[in-house]
Amino acid sequence: MSDISGKFKVLITQEEVQKRIRELAAEISRDYRGKSIHMICILKGGVYFMTLLSSYISEDIPVSLDFMSVSSYGSEMKSSGIVRIVKDLDEPLAGKDVLIVEDIIDSGRTLHYLLGILKNREPASLKLCTLLDKPDRRERDVRVDYTGFVIEDRFVLGCGMDYRQYYRNLPYIGVVEP
Ligand code: IMP
Ligand code: MG
Repeated sequence: MSDISGKFKVLITQEEVQKRIRELAAEISRDYRGKSIHMICILKGGVYFMTLLSSYISEDIPVSLDFMSVSSYGSEMKSSGIVRIVKDLDEPLAGKDVLIVEDIIDSGRTLHYLLGILKNREPASLKLCTLLDKPDRRERDVRVDYTGFVIEDRFVLGCGMDYRQYYRNLPYIGVVEP
């Protein structure tokens, strides 16, 4: 059953999300002046955020995109505790200024594991950008360089985030009523 319409409400509006993503893009554009950015989208949740974020990066900064898919969650609202690479990157990272783009950091397990793997591929630099952060649930230390919004421990959807694979397309962040 994937229909939970009527059981969630707007937490962060479309306008607020877009404004914050533009602010992050401006900050990232300042930090990467004179460099290129190799953005890595963590599928599927990161697609919405990376698309908007990359479109707002200053045009004089060359941006390349790559995609990686990992699974850390089942179809339910809690962690399975297992992280597995489902699709690896197409391009090597050596010498590149890499920016990982993620939808949400929750326990931190996924990113803790991924950062370890990607560091070994010897990028020139490796930074992390997340649209949302739920620090209350952290189990693993993860250094986040750019955060859109810090939220309480609530299950959210929209802007790339799903409930049983649905609702990723919503242009606002919704929260499921307890
Ligand atoms: P972590 O390994 O616990 O940090 O889990 C991160 C991943 O879990 C995210 O990339 C999301 O795909 C998923 N996730 C965590 N919290 C939520 C949520 O509130 N809504 C939807 N997906 C979530
Ligand atoms: Mg994700």
